[in-house]
Amino acid sequence: MEGICNALREDNPKRVFYQFEGSLDKAVNLINLINKEQPDVVILDESGVDAKDLLSLEQACMQYPNTGFIMLHETVSQEFLISALRIGVKDVLKLPLVNEELLRAVSRIEIKLNYAAASKQGKVIVFTSGKGGSGATFLACNLAYTLAATHSDLKVALLDLNLQFGDAALFLSDRIPPNTLAEVAGNISRLDASLLASSMVQVLPNFGVLAAPEDAERAEEVKPQHIDALIKLAKQQYDFVILDIGRTLNATSLKALDHADNIFVVLQQTLPFIRDSKRLVKILLSLGYPKAIINLLINRFEKGGDIDVRDIEATLEMQVYERIPNSYITVSASVNQGVPIMKISKHDPVTKSLEEIVRKLTEIPGGKEHGWISRIFN
Ligand SMILES: Nc1ncnc2c1ncn2[C@@H]1O[C@H](COP(=O)(O)OP(=O)(O)OP(=O)(O)O)[C@@H](O)[C@H]1O
Ligand SMILES: [Mg+2]
Repeated sequence: MEGICNALREDNPKRVFYQFEGSLDKAVNLINLINKEQPDVVILDESGVDAKDLLSLEQACMQYPNTGFIMLHETVSQEFLISALRIGVKDVLKLPLVNEELLRAVSRIEIKLNYAAASKQGKVIVFTSGKGGSGATFLACNLAYTLAATHSDLKVALLDLNLQFGDAALFLSDRIPPNTLAEVAGNISRLDASLLASSMVQVLPNFGVLAAPEDAERAEEVKPQHIDALIKLAKQQYDFVILDIGRTLNATSLKALDHADNIFVVLQQTLPFIRDSKRLVKILLSLGYPKAIINLLINRFEKGGDIDVRDIEATLEMQVYERIPNSYITVSASVNQGVPIMKISKHDPVTKSLEEIVRKLTEIPGGKEHGWISRIFN
């Protein structure tokens, strides 16, 4: 074991290792470890096992397609090799181990993973509004949470790009963010997947939030090119990247909008919101963002309100994507406690409409749920 670690460390000092003792019949422990640490490569010294013992590994191989399993074995028979490869093991190496063979096998997996990461393009969803207090931050945070909580196979990131008034992390957690957007921007030349992940508040195993800079002075350090690099990286690492850009259009928020697959404009059913949203939509269109990606969310919707949804649609010349009901007591509890609304009340109408937005975002017309993701990855 020591020899393997030394060889891998000499080859690349940045590699991180975890040692784990046990046997394949304790595969549950192995799965827990993989779940927690998400390693790129797992090397199993299974000198004693025969082909039928491999079945217990099958589950791990299926569950973690992004982890490459390498198996070490004393006698690599044809039958054993075929069974191992069939269940998804990437390589079987003969013991005693030749270091060069191991390094070759590991680097084959790493190259493949890097390639997969570089070609993956997550979906970018931007939340904005024409007027303060519309609920854009509340909806961005809770949509991100609902998406991650209902789809454990999807990785979700929420980046708070609201430089002056960013408060998104507080809507979801009472933990102090390890880093904020300002530190990430300050270290942009070193920014990689692990720096980004370790800077985030991990709200769920598949959902992290990058907090906004803590004060305006630090916010000054964040430049448009930082936002660009950050979003490019996040798109490679996450299936959904949700951005709260607040309501100021400037060079930094435009960089975020440039990456958008979907721009949610949040408004309420009153004249000032409608007026300011009309202005915002007009600006977005004049900046060249396609109408097809601009979507209206009516928040705090009340049936029988003064202004009918059809009037809003006629004024803004576009369809409403979803109405999110007004739910003062539950939303206030969620916001005040910093706990996602889905955790406060599974049956609240706001939770239900967030689930409906998630359904729409993960479906393809006439296809299965999150079919577009399978299409990309297959
Ligand atoms: N569907 C809802 N029902 C009831 N209250 C809501 C709802 N959505 C949001 N709110 C309330 O509105 C408040 C303002 O929401 P939020 O901070 O998300 O707005 P914002 O658009 O991000 O504002 P800002 O422009 O200042 O960033 C929240 O604190 C919450 O109490
Ligand atoms: Mg906000």
